[in-house]
Amino acid sequence: MTINHADIHFNENGTPYAKQFDDLYFSDAKGLGETEHVFLKNNQILERWECWQEQNFVIAETGFGTGLNFLVTLLHFDLFQQKSPDSPLRLHFLSIEKFPINVADLTQALSFYPQLKQYSEELLRQYPLLVSGCHRLSFLEGAVTLDLWFGDVQQVLPQIEVPKAGLVDAWYLDGFAPSKNPEMWNDFLFQHMALLAKDQCSFSTFTAAGFVRRGLIAAGFDAKKCPGHGRKRDMLAGIFTSAQAKTVRVPYFKRAPATDTTTPSIAIIGGGLAAANCAYALSKRGIKANIFCKDNELAQGASGNIQGGFYPQLNADAGNASQIHATAFTYASRMYRELLRSGANFTHQWCGTLQVAFNDKVTQRYQKLVHNKTWPESLIRWVDSQDASNLANVPLPYPGLFIEQGGWLHLPELIAALVMQSKADVKVNHQLVSTELKGDTWQLNWQDGTHSEADIIIYAIGSDSPNLDPLKPLPFRLVRGQVENLNSENELAELTTVLCHKGYMTPSL
Ligand SMILES: C[S@@+](CC[C@H](N)C(=O)[O-])C[C@H]1O[C@@H](n2cnc3c(N)ncnc32)[C@H](O)[C@@H]1O
Repeated sequence: MTINHADIHFNENGTPYAKQFDDLYFSDAKGLGETEHVFLKNNQILERWECWQEQNFVIAETGFGTGLNFLVTLLHFDLFQQKSPDSPLRLHFLSIEKFPINVADLTQALSFYPQLKQYSEELLRQYPLLVSGCHRLSFLEGAVTLDLWFGDVQQVLPQIEVPKAGLVDAWYLDGFAPSKNPEMWNDFLFQHMALLAKDQCSFSTFTAAGFVRRGLIAAGFDAKKCPGHGRKRDMLAGIFTSAQAKTVRVPYFKRAPATDTTTPSIAIIGGGLAAANCAYALSKRGIKANIFCKDNELAQGASGNIQGGFYPQLNADAGNASQIHATAFTYASRMYRELLRSGANFTHQWCGTLQVAFNDKVTQRYQKLVHNKTWPESLIRWVDSQDASNLANVPLPYPGLFIEQGGWLHLPELIAALVMQSKADVKVNHQLVSTELKGDTWQLNWQDGTHSEADIIIYAIGSDSPNLDPLKPLPFRLVRGQVENLNSENELAELTTVLCHKGYMTPSL
């Protein structure tokens, strides 16, 4: 789905105004009071964090806008963490935005909040390209996750995976005044809020419109009018009181902890990029994983490539595969840059990736991709043969597509960096032959006759997948690849970008 930027201007007070909706993003461009009152206070966010028994607190928002609500919540979560350094609580903030603000406007909008500077800068650094779907951003060393969905609320809400017990602990119901945005404020929204809500999930919204209150009540929220901020007399807030929830007798913020809060032991089978990334992601959630690798060191399979091309495979239509590539690529791009900023070291070049249109069929395919405007130019753009030659620094007779954020990475070094940061235990020379479920625990049987145990197994074994019993039913198809490392000579030694043809070639190391 094509996503368009918000069309905004700033009024004389510096408050951003959306032309698409003929409405202001917030009523006061100077203070944080409106957000603090409407969303934090009326969802009792700070009080709930103090005594929250689960590992995650999940907030969902309709309308990310300038990100002000998120940033104010982030500021308070940072203060909470400083006050309670031993708290394992993590904040998961999920926000949906149909018309993302471009970086220049966002920078201007957020410049009015010097008190949020450190958080705004981090948001701006990670702010996603204009690609529809879910963009996962990370703050406060992984303690806060922002899932920023670019798309219409109506399209996004049904895509969100909901665990049986619900997902959301508090709803920030924003999204411009109902009179200015009637398409968003409807029963579909209220019912999906209920569908995603955990028992005793709270909500708040700046509006006090009667049909919103009635719609929320019909969906199972105990919606009540309460005093608004500043000149606004009323607003709405309340709790999700499904039939089941009414049997809970303790106040919602003192409910019993989830039955099993122990950290599971996780065995990752594999020694490549997938295994290392899993271990790293788990470490961000406070879980130290065990990596079992069949070789005598990591990165001995396809991830042994010392100059792995870094780019997504995009088609002219945003099918599932392209969509996954686009959001995974932009995620990896943010995450690897963040890894480098945090002091990790791996050889790499963000030199861009050039896909040459080397025959008529490929040219037509690439032209269609550009013509369809499925992807923003900041992700992939058309270049003529002169531009292509300049970018590659070698004469090229072809036009093509250029992916600015692409490049290449030294995969064994990247794997070592991820594993080191994850503090995972690595066991080499462990080839898995079978697994058995014993009670709630898996027994892993190794080729040398020894065993290990784990609550959860992650298979990250690439081309070995079809050979292992538990994975045999899955329809894997092996694709052969080949890497050759050669000395660059003559003009190829001057190559300055990754060059994709049927395979790809990287600049010299
Ligand atoms: C009042 S602003 C939100 C302010 C924001 N929470 C903040 O902290 O800056 C409303 C936002 O909702 C977005 N929006 C409106 N209708 C939407 C829809 N149907 N789906 C997703 N986002 C929508 C608008 O583009 C706008 O950014």
